Amino acid sequence: MESNPVTVAAHRHYGIRYDRQIQDLLTRETKVFRVDGTMVGVSDFPLVSAVVAARPVLAKERSVFKPAAGAEIGHDSATRSIHALGRDVMAGVETAPPPAQRLSGEWPYAASSYLREWLFASDPLPMSLLRKRRITSSDLLSQVVDRAVTVWPGSGGEGRGSMLGRQIVDAADTRERRQAIALYRRATATLSDGVAALVANSLWLMGPERSDVPRTELTAVLWETLRLLPPAWMLLRSGGDVYDGLHPDIRSEDNIALFPLLMHRDPDHWSDPLEFRPERWHGVGDPEKTSAFMPFGFEGARCWAKHLVVPLAERLLNVALDNRITLHSPEQQTHIPLRSLLSVRFTAEVAAA
Ligand code: HEM
Repeated sequence: MESNPVTVAAHRHYGIRYDRQIQDLLTRETKVFRVDGTMVGVSDFPLVSAVVAARPVLAKERSVFKPAAGAEIGHDSATRSIHALGRDVMAGVETAPPPAQRLSGEWPYAASSYLREWLFASDPLPMSLLRKRRITSSDLLSQVVDRAVTVWPGSGGEGRGSMLGRQIVDAADTRERRQAIALYRRATATLSDGVAALVANSLWLMGPERSDVPRTELTAVLWETLRLLPPAWMLLRSGGDVYDGLHPDIRSEDNIALFPLLMHRDPDHWSDPLEFRPERWHGVGDPEKTSAFMPFGFEGARCWAKHLVVPLAERLLNVALDNRITLHSPEQQTHIPLRSLLSVRFTAEVAAA
């Protein structure tokens, strides 16, 4: 799996201060441990595989496709949304990116807004309100905007707007429209926030000489980032009889937290696990076939958008590096707070062209 240690190898210095709870997890010596009275943590690869294989993901455990408007999201509707998102991403990255100075500011937020603008700028006003961070964090504002999207005449019509937005316009009835609105919100947020987190983590791990890293190396940089700082760092499964007998410490009433973050650093599976070494991915045809590596989940619950995430992240990384982005953080240290997406925080500056 390894070949010549070149390029990024010289730039391994990075300082990260994790939230205390993440730091506690990183210092765990056992691979199965109690998190609290109701939850067991697991980072042992065979056991993680067994837990994931024990049953399909439940509707309530899903992120983008969890129930909306009082009903589960049907398989056809989920598939249509992913296809629409895929076409929007492909079409978006063919267009010129927004001015690079808009990458300046607080990351990962600046990057997430930049991606939303890049990919969904063609959506008419009511729909573009659906992807505004401040609005999506308030229930009341969300309801007002949902209403505006529903009653706005010709929203997304006349061939304008994203394919994802068209799902709202083309909905056959009220429930379908409300579900399409929820999916628009969730899909645009998951994609923009997830890719922004991945690119933020990559830029930080590449270190101050990042602009000198050969562009042919960026795919390996992204896979190595997905190993060392995976945005989806913890996956949850609610408990049940189905897990009985998998491990003596797991009771049927226990919920289970699976930790890719810890598994990806397991010295039984990785050489120099704490080193950022993109070269470990040289010549690896399908990184996801690597054991103890699950940045996009396992067979059966694998991420439906994974084919979009790495190419889009690589495109954004290129824009940032082409414009010689610089990162500022107190004492060259960055902070990782306890959030559902693992992402470093820093201030970035991109000079006007
Ligand atoms: C950087 C971005 C992303 C990362 C790192 C990521 C990661 C993951 C991971 C780790 C899983 C497995 C979850 C589990 O087993 O509990 C997963 C599943 C899934 N992801 Fe993603 N994901 C990303 C973006 C997206 C986007 C943009 C979408 C769709 C709009 C999406 C749709 C799904 C779906 C449908 C599943 C299968 C689980 C289910 O049925 O709900 N993901 N993803």
